[in-house]
Parts: sequence; structure tokens; C-alpha cells
Amino acid sequence: MKRIAILVSGRGSNFEAIARCIREGRLEAQIAMLLSNRADAAALKTAASFGLPHHCLPSQGVATDDWARQAVELLAPLNVDLICLAGFMRRVGQPLLDAYPGRILNIHPSLLPAFPGLEVQQQALDYGVKFSGCTVHFVDSGLDTGPIVAQAMVPVLDNDTARTLAARILVEEHRIYPQAIALVLSGKYRVEGRRVLAG
Ligand code: GAR
Repeated sequence: MKRIAILVSGRGSNFEAIARCIREGRLEAQIAMLLSNRADAAALKTAASFGLPHHCLPSQGVATDDWARQAVELLAPLNVDLICLAGFMRRVGQPLLDAYPGRILNIHPSLLPAFPGLEVQQQALDYGVKFSGCTVHFVDSGLDTGPIVAQAMVPVLDNDTARTLAARILVEEHRIYPQAIALVLSGKYRVEGRRVLAG
């Protein structure tokens, strides 16, 4: 059974969607660790209620690469096949990238390469796009720049606020992230340049 670690900073609805898929037999994987960089992350409580291993490694005041080194040490004995960032609101740091090359996924609430970074839905509204969505991508050393595994599109409505748009996108996040994880864990893909192709 493939093992995954999920890194979060807050609410953890994507984590919960993944955990439910696994529990209901729709994703074959085992969550070896839910790791939060914030002690107040609701995801920690959700992990406890699911009976899943969880841990907080606070990042406040800790340099990105120092945090990453601590995370690598913590995860090493768990032999995880894949790290999934799910609302992890920090750069991952080079030590994690080096320890898990091509084995870190992120979900981002826009159709990358549009609107990387933060305040993503507001960026989309301010720009005036008619469609937005979400992207699952491999993590590289850039900001939301790695090869794209999956995307889903949602319409932007005239009366949308950042909040209503985020909620519509989140439904799609919960659908495509477990699917993208399943694809990557299956190994049935290849990366050619920036393109992630089936087979
Ligand atoms: C999700 O919308 C996710 O795409 C976004 O944060 C939210 C976390 O929600 N991630 C980023 O913006 C990463 N740059 P969740 O904690 O309920 O899964």
C-alpha cells in the first residue's frame, strides 16, 4: 500500500476529502502523517477524529529550509511515497524538494499559470476572468510553477465574491485532488518537459 503525508496550515477540507476517499475505498493509499505547521490548524482535530497520525511542527520564526529539514527528519522513518500539500501556506524548502524529488504535489485554487500566490480568488475577480478553477501540480522550487497533473474549471459569476468563488472552486478541488493522487501513486504517467502525460 502506497503511503502519503499531507501537509496543511489550516482548515484541512482537502485533507478530509482525501481521507474520506481512502476510508470509502475510492483511493488506495494510507495516510502516514498529517503534518501541520500551525498548532491551531483545524485539520489536526480532523486527523484525530479519523484516528490518523498527526503532528504539528510550528514554523513561526523558523527559516523555510530549517523547517524543511525538521520535516524531512520527521518523515524519513515513515517511508512515504508522496507528499501532498493541502492548504499548506508556506514554501516547502529545498531540503524537502531534495528528499522527495518529483514526489510532492500541491493544490492551488486557480487555473495556473494564472494567479499564483495568495489572495487567489480576489486576483481572479480583479482581473475579470470569466472562468477560474483549480490546479494540482508537482512542486518545484518556484511559486506554483511545477508540471500540471490535473485542472478543473468553474465559471466566475457576475455576483461572485472571493468567498463564493472559493467555495465553488473547493468542490472541484475535493474531486480532482484524490484523482490526481491516485494517478501519481499508480505511476502510470510520464513527465515530458512541463507536460504530465498518461502512460
Ligand atoms: C484550498 O483552496 C487550497 O487550494 C488553497 O488553500 C485552501 C485550503 O483549504 N491552497 C493555496 O492557496 C496554496 N497556495 P483546505 O485547508 O480546506 O484544504
